[in-house]
Amino acid sequence: MKDLIRTSDLSRADVKYLLARAQKFKANPHARRNLLAGESVCLYFAKPSTRTRVSFEAAVNRLGGCGISLSPNDMQLGRGETIEDTARIISRYAKAFVIRTFKDDDVERFARAASIPVINALTDGHHPCQSLADLLTLLEHRGSLKKCRIAYLGDGNNVAISLMQAAALVGADITLGCPASYSVKPELVRAARIEAEANGGSVTVTDDPSAAARGADALYTDVWLSMGDPDAEKEVRQRELGPYQISEQLMALAKPDAVFMHCLPAHRGEEVAEAVMDGPRSVVWDQAENRLHTSVAVLYALIEGKLEGRAPSKSA
Ligand code: CP
Repeated sequence: MKDLIRTSDLSRADVKYLLARAQKFKANPHARRNLLAGESVCLYFAKPSTRTRVSFEAAVNRLGGCGISLSPNDMQLGRGETIEDTARIISRYAKAFVIRTFKDDDVERFARAASIPVINALTDGHHPCQSLADLLTLLEHRGSLKKCRIAYLGDGNNVAISLMQAAALVGADITLGCPASYSVKPELVRAARIEAEANGGSVTVTDDPSAAARGADALYTDVWLSMGDPDAEKEVRQRELGPYQISEQLMALAKPDAVFMHCLPAHRGEEVAEAVMDGPRSVVWDQAENRLHTSVAVLYALIEGKLEGRAPSKSA
């Protein structure tokens, strides 16, 4: 497996390997500081980022390399040089390419033309790196991922899709509590359900936030208006997604020791109540820290050729 484009491209063994590697790097952050000595990794961000960009830059440093941060305006890509030509050129300079952009197809084109690993740092459809940090955080706080009950509430966006695919791979039970108009595409749910059931887990979809939250080990949410969504949708989204806010009342339906998760940045008072976000059950800062340890693990595993991957499903 050369690239990390979607969580569903990983095998179950790959996820296990990456989580174990991330734990090792967390315990011993500079264990492989020679891996990228004298080498570079390019980090291209066409959308804003705090966690992903800084964690990947820090990860490159921990592996002994130099991160080169780029935006569309820095490159001829922004003036019409093709994705494929850019990919061929970057492959001559760097050991890996981390890319945050809009269209999933652009990342796939880049990966096909590049001879180096390409890592999806968020597209409109997927956020695989976030999903690995989410699993690591759940593992740390719940002890086991198998049969762990995760409830994702709100917009069925890229974060929800990657979380669902990650949960399916580890045999967790995930419920997506989303209004029908903001739910994950049925074909993606179907593919994840097949994977989950093969691993002893389940994928459930409901438009009832209380049903989703009841008995959960973790309640998870994300912003209601993602990067790339039109601002004009803000009011209607707030109205339709309002009942899915993770409030103290909703947390009370989950297990007494359930955790609150959010990929961040958060909008307190919208998708999450301030008292939950800053309360004792919130693990969002651990989740954010784990972006770093999983970023180191992803770079290490791809550069060293440690992942087997599998043929992506057409519906993934
Ligand atoms: N969660 C996440 O991807 O954060 P950034 O947008 O700050 O990278």
